[in-house]
Amino acid sequence: MDFINLGNAKLAAQYAAIELFRTIQSTPQSKLGLATGGTMEPVYAELVKLIQTNPIDLSDIQTFNLDEYYELDRESTQSYLYYMKHHLFDHIDIQPEQYYFPDNDAENLDADNKAYDTLIMQNHPINLQLLGIGTNGHIGFNEPGTPFDSNTRMVDLTQETIEANARFFDSIEEVPTKAVTMGINTILNSNRILMLATGEKKQPIIKQLYEMQYPDETVPASVLLNHPNVLVVTDNAASPY
Ligand code: PGA
Repeated sequence: MDFINLGNAKLAAQYAAIELFRTIQSTPQSKLGLATGGTMEPVYAELVKLIQTNPIDLSDIQTFNLDEYYELDRESTQSYLYYMKHHLFDHIDIQPEQYYFPDNDAENLDADNKAYDTLIMQNHPINLQLLGIGTNGHIGFNEPGTPFDSNTRMVDLTQETIEANARFFDSIEEVPTKAVTMGINTILNSNRILMLATGEKKQPIIKQLYEMQYPDETVPASVLLNHPNVLVVTDNAASPY
């Protein structure tokens, strides 16, 4: 796992956007693993700019989002589908058949979660997986204590995550307490992983990760120590050194 401090959040976002763009350029049938959250908003803004100014064929890409709140109406402005449309999909030439999210309602949930993992691995794994990180070390909604061999499934959110995400809702009571997330094993199957962490709130967890020698399930992101191709990109505020 390599770390690089690019100085500020704009440069970090530009770097991630260029990596996504270059992946599509070199592999038109790319599968991209996408993340949501505040950190990713400037990444998608930069990616939209790149795509709008450089001709590129997006017709063969597929995207797979990490997670979605459980039983939240997908039309609601807090859903991750809405987020992705608002920040990326509505601004580029991509069809709904090309973007995938974990199923988030009760009917056939287990079977649908298995199907999501199968689809992700069909033909070839995800070429580039984008990841944020929670202040508690979560990746996707895999909270501390999640077994490293976990696959896509429904999970309970921790109080820390509910509080961190309350800023996107009118009140904390409205934040869903459950979500469906790609598992840690699902994420680890990706060919390449790019983690982005910006802002001082992320510094303690990034420093902890930087200093860890061995993966430990109390820090979900530490599983990335087991992966051969991970880059953690930070700004000055989140830099571990
Ligand atoms: P954030 O979320 O980008 O909104 O900080 C990251 C995460 O929780 O994975």
